[in-house]
Amino acid sequence: MLILGIESTCDETAAAVVADGVAVRGNVVASQIDLHQRYRGVVPEIASRAHIENILPVLRESLATSGVNLNDVDAIAVAYRPGLIGSLLIGVTAAKTLAWALTKPLMGVDHVQSHLYSVRLETGADVPMPAVGLVCSGGHTALYRLQSFLDVQLIGATIDDAVGEAYDKVAAILGLGYPGGPVIDRLAGLGDGSAIKFPRSRMGRESLDFSFSGLKTSVLYHVRGFKGCQRDASSLSPRQLNDVCASFQAACVDVLIEKIKRALRQTHGQAVIIGGGVSANGGLRQAAKKLPVPVFFPPMQYCTDNAAMSAGLAYLHLQAGQKSSLDIDAIPYSQFSRA
Ligand code: KG4
Ligand code: ZN
Repeated sequence: MLILGIESTCDETAAAVVADGVAVRGNVVASQIDLHQRYRGVVPEIASRAHIENILPVLRESLATSGVNLNDVDAIAVAYRPGLIGSLLIGVTAAKTLAWALTKPLMGVDHVQSHLYSVRLETGADVPMPAVGLVCSGGHTALYRLQSFLDVQLIGATIDDAVGEAYDKVAAILGLGYPGGPVIDRLAGLGDGSAIKFPRSRMGRESLDFSFSGLKTSVLYHVRGFKGCQRDASSLSPRQLNDVCASFQAACVDVLIEKIKRALRQTHGQAVIIGGGVSANGGLRQAAKKLPVPVFFPPMQYCTDNAAMSAGLAYLHLQAGQKSSLDIDAIPYSQFSRA
């Protein structure tokens, strides 16, 4: 079964053709990083307008590189929640139009759930269940219990910033540009993670929730200096900068791993799935090797937003006899809320 997936939840316009939920045939992602860089974060109105310009060229390129004719596609998939409403509307409208014009089934998928599914792309990984899932990205940091990829329950979430957002804000404080994750990850590899004791927010012994705003503020105070001093990052030596990055990353990774361990204990999880932009992080991938169960990461190119994961998850939904109606709406929040 060939599924054409569409993704436009935030600042990436993406399309992909995926065969039988696993084999990715044409994965195209138009990034808007250049447009948002000078604002050090995503500007929703700019994102929506860029999606309008990008959606048709991206769809055409995906079909061309996959060598698939539109008439040979068996279904259309789209991430219809959660995300920026103006951004979501572009992908959802394109998907509905294609499904209607081609008289093919439409399947709306939850973007967060598709980040979990991304570990099966290319590999077809057979994940032991129940599993603990962590989605860590610029917009989300949450833990899930999975009985299957379609049976997902939210068990913990950030009460303030997402971890990727903390990376982006710390990068802004350090003058490292946007997005912050890749560059901080690289500099962290050159520094000493124990140089500065940044706080780890554990939120009570059994809590599966996260908080990253205090850590971010702590980095700001460290860089500025105390007692009214207003230094900025330019006063840091390269070695000090690397140590700040490494120490910040160590604090993030410690908390993520600690919460995964708690979730494993509480849910009797047999495996761990880690998806979302921050799942590309070298420190996190290294630390996850010590977890007591098998850990599944997406292939690198599917950590950040892409449409292959939408098409892949849609395959499971369709196999289970589910289908969306042509009047689905874009929805800004995820379907998963705490039981
Ligand atoms: O999944 P994604 O593309 O978008 C959301 O759904 O939010 O994630 C983007 C986020 C950004 O905050 C970026 O800084 C972060 O993922 N990121 C990383 C790395 N690569 C991307 N964070 C830490 N380490 C990385 N290597
Ligand atoms: Zn995402």
